[in-house]
Amino acid sequence: MTGFDLVRPLPGAGFGGRVRPRDGAGAHAVIAAVERDPAALPRLLADSGGLLLLDGMDAMAQTPELLVRLSRGFGTEVENYRETLMAPNMVHATVPEILVVSNGPPVNRAPPPRPEPPLTASGGLPVQFPHRRGWHTDQSYRRPPPDISLFLAVSPVPPGQGQTLFADGAAAYDALPPALKARVDDLEGLHVSLNAERSRDEILAGRTPRALGPRERPQRQPVARIHPVTGRRALYLCENRQMDWFEGPFVGLQPGPHGDGAALLDTLMAHLTRPEFVYVHDWRAGDLLVWDNRCLVHTATWFDTTTQLRLMWRTTVSGNPGPAYAGEAKSWIAA
Ligand SMILES: [Fe+2]
Repeated sequence: MTGFDLVRPLPGAGFGGRVRPRDGAGAHAVIAAVERDPAALPRLLADSGGLLLLDGMDAMAQTPELLVRLSRGFGTEVENYRETLMAPNMVHATVPEILVVSNGPPVNRAPPPRPEPPLTASGGLPVQFPHRRGWHTDQSYRRPPPDISLFLAVSPVPPGQGQTLFADGAAAYDALPPALKARVDDLEGLHVSLNAERSRDEILAGRTPRALGPRERPQRQPVARIHPVTGRRALYLCENRQMDWFEGPFVGLQPGPHGDGAALLDTLMAHLTRPEFVYVHDWRAGDLLVWDNRCLVHTATWFDTTTQLRLMWRTTVSGNPGPAYAGEAKSWIAA
């Protein structure tokens, strides 16, 4: 018995859950319940396949420290973006644990392009790679990578635009044909920051990769990653950006966008983003999603920047990447 009510799965999906505090409503009630039982939300997150919706968190927009306080309930370390490599215009002015995602100033981040064609043949929202692009798991170019992201809709765009899509890497791994499972079980992907200019699009365009500094080096990550809490394997992959398309995308397979590695990545990513593994979230102000980067991938959808101003806040939580990372120094911090 926890201080929360859980409804799962999320609508239209095979995973995820909506949680509300049993006593009261809103951000203060959530934080009071967390402080009474700190293990409750992490347990509900694991039980829900790595995705929780907390709605009605509007008070966090007025008091951003509340988002950081809740984030601390999901791990030992909440990233301070002023201490990492984040551009200053992306970081909240007074709360450096908050990454600001917005098309407005000073961030000026454009949404992803609209897929072409914009709808599926049956008139639905495209979710499956390669019709839908941009799938990734946060900061996979770091070792150890982060565990959890929290994303608050301060000012979202209307339903049908600016959505966040999630794909269930554990269900997708379980459903792999045995031959593919055997291929990925000991395989490693080569992940790199989008600032490294090694995306698939950039390599396809013929760009010669620049030399990378010691903190930017591509990082190996297991493709079938074992979750440290649930023990389940999940597909852990990105596609255009965050994979190294010059030396990778996979260790030991033919590199580059035309190699055997590319063919395998396309197969795996199309499988991982099959509609039965995907949840589509249309945002309302005050929605907070908590997701587990160790077992889910996600992407965003287009919105009309000529009419819409979107403002979202993210925090990133680390501390339990699993025994494969035990004792490692942070790859992105200078020694
Ligand atoms: Fe992300």
